[in-house]
Order: sequence, then C-alpha cells, then structure tokens
Amino acid sequence: MTWINASLKLGDILLPRERINERVAEIAGDISREYAGERVVVVGVLKGAVIFMADLVRVIDDSVDVRMDFMAVSSYGDSSTSSGAVKIIKDMDTFAEDEHIILVEDIMDTGLTLSYLKEMLMTRNPRSFKTCVLLEKPERKKAECAIDYRGFEIPDKFVVGYGLDYAGKWRNLSDIWHVVEG
Ligand code: IMP
Repeated sequence: MTWINASLKLGDILLPRERINERVAEIAGDISREYAGERVVVVGVLKGAVIFMADLVRVIDDSVDVRMDFMAVSSYGDSSTSSGAVKIIKDMDTFAEDEHIILVEDIMDTGLTLSYLKEMLMTRNPRSFKTCVLLEKPERKKAECAIDYRGFEIPDKFVVGYGLDYAGKWRNLSDIWHVVEG
C-alpha cells in the first residue's frame, strides 16, 4: 500500500482513548507480575512509541525497577512506504548485557523493523528480551518476530494518533484514527 502524494485527513476513530488506556493498564499488569522485584530496561523506538511508553511505564507497579531508554531508526519518512531498510540513527545508551530488555514499538506492520532490532539486540546478550507492541497489522507481516505484549490487532489501514504519525503529523492525538483521502 502506498500513501505517497495522497492528501489525507482524519477519518473515523479506530481505538478511542478509554479502550487504549484499559489495554495499556492490562499490559502493565502483565509486566508488573512478570518482573516483580527485577530491574527492567524499557526501550522505546522513537518517535512513535513515546506516548505509549510514557503511559505504560507510569502504570507498571512500583515493585518493578523500571529504567527507560530509547532508540531511533530510519522509518518510512514522509512516504509511509516500507523500504525494508533499517538504519540505527540513535542506539540505546544502556549496556544491554545481563539486563532484562523490553523493546517497545508503536506498530508492527511488515515486522522488518522489529525483527532487525531483535536480532541486533540479542547479540548483546541481554538477560532476557521481550517485545511490546501497541498495534499489529497481521495481514502485512513479512518478517517473523514474536510479540510478547500486544495491544491490538488491526486491519491493514493507515492509522495515526497516540504517537503514530503521517508525515510527522497527528502524533499528539489521544485516540487512534483512520486516515482517509481528502
Ligand atoms: P515495519 O518495519 O513495517 O513493521 O514498520 C514499522 C513502522 O512503520 C512503525 O514504527 C511506523 O513508524 C510505521 N507504520 C506502519 N504502519 C503505520 C500506520 O498505520 N501509521 C503510522 N505509522 C505506520
């Protein structure tokens, strides 16, 4: 699917903020149970994961020692079409060896980004490695990468809001919206 040159506007709401908040709290509950008493480094992939990650870490139980870190990779740019190429623009600062790592992404589309990052981070010998992804488009999957904590499965339609953008726009919206040509 190519969205280049399309002039897009907001369509309907796919996931309202209340539903997102509920699901984020459930995921945080799972993480809290699994990592109670442990230190975990939550690594967000910039910029899309920022809002999700900020909400998530604030509802993880205090019994978990949560550290935050970020990576930036080359993304779709302004065209929204996956090139398949993943370039590390900013690496995480934490020395990953022997750490529990949870990699947080906004959306798994083809899976190329996540599978690349997983392979790369696994070479650093973390104590454990899990993925946490808010949205998954299963129809688009090209690369295999298990999602350990998944928010929602969604159909293959372009979405924005709650961190997700189109050409840098609409990340700040509290709900997740479909975009339509307009
Ligand atoms: P993947 O490597 O194809 O899984 O691409 C993941 C990246 O594609 C995400 O981190 C987003 O930046 C971008 N992306 C894929 N689908 C959407 C969408 O519907 N809205 C906004 N960004 C998207």
